[in-house]
Amino acid sequence: MDVNFEITETTKFRISDIKLAQRIFVVGSTGSGKSWLVAYIMSKFAKKQLTVVLDKKDEYDIPELPNDFMTRQKGLYKLTSLEFDSGYTENNFFVLMEFLTNNLFKRGNACIVLEEVGSYIPKNGMLYETSPNVAHYLSQGRKRNNSLITTSQRPQQVHTDIPSQSEHKISFRVDSKHDLEAMKNYFSKEHYASLKEFQFLHKNTIKGTNERHYKLTTSQQYFGLKLLGDDSGKQTELSD
Ligand SMILES: Nc1ncnc2c1ncn2[C@@H]1O[C@H](COP(=O)(O)OP(=O)(O)O)[C@@H](O)[C@H]1O
Ligand SMILES: [Mg+2]
Repeated sequence: MDVNFEITETTKFRISDIKLAQRIFVVGSTGSGKSWLVAYIMSKFAKKQLTVVLDKKDEYDIPELPNDFMTRQKGLYKLTSLEFDSGYTENNFFVLMEFLTNNLFKRGNACIVLEEVGSYIPKNGMLYETSPNVAHYLSQGRKRNNSLITTSQRPQQVHTDIPSQSEHKISFRVDSKHDLEAMKNYFSKEHYASLKEFQFLHKNTIKGTNERHYKLTTSQQYFGLKLLGDDSGKQTELSD
């Protein structure tokens, strides 16, 4: 049973609350700020471990995962396709995800970022049967110091094992009542009601806290601007 914590105040997001080898699930409707927050968190992880984004929309301005990735200590890379010596190119995201979770689980000390996870992990069925390597990485990765960041704009389309096994549930605004419903074990409608632009809710099950954070500070936003640029068409004011 989940304890329902009251959110009493708006606080600054503390990256130090998020530790290596933890799992972070980030939701919010499109344009709400998920990728900018992910850019901040994963940039910090990448200083300590090999961090790879499964970048379906090819949004991140970072290098492709090199062939010798198993021997790299750390760094930030994206995976958008796999090229084989035979000349065959694999770009099915389900296959890429299973490849990545399998190899980086064995390797250890890695972080995997799965953006829009609901679009390639089936929602229904046992995760161990539909996506065995992801299921294994999700439940056993911590022992090998493996971190996982997942995002979704439609939490109702995400397999419930993903949020339930994530130490951190983070939510920007969501648009539909189905998505509010999907998050109701973690945040109530009241929690969502006063959420402002780029603000987010953060349930940390390790510390037992449930907080509403201000939008990222200027220095925290820097990572999003650097890795994603500004695709909103409007001038981003980098002020608090
Ligand atoms: N914390 C923030 N403060 C100010 N602007 C932001 C912030 N986060 C995101 N943005 C702006 O909103 C746009 C969409 O953010 P993004 O993180 O890509 O959203 P999502 O991944 O949820 O679709 C960005 O291009 C940027 O202009
Ligand atoms: Mg995004």
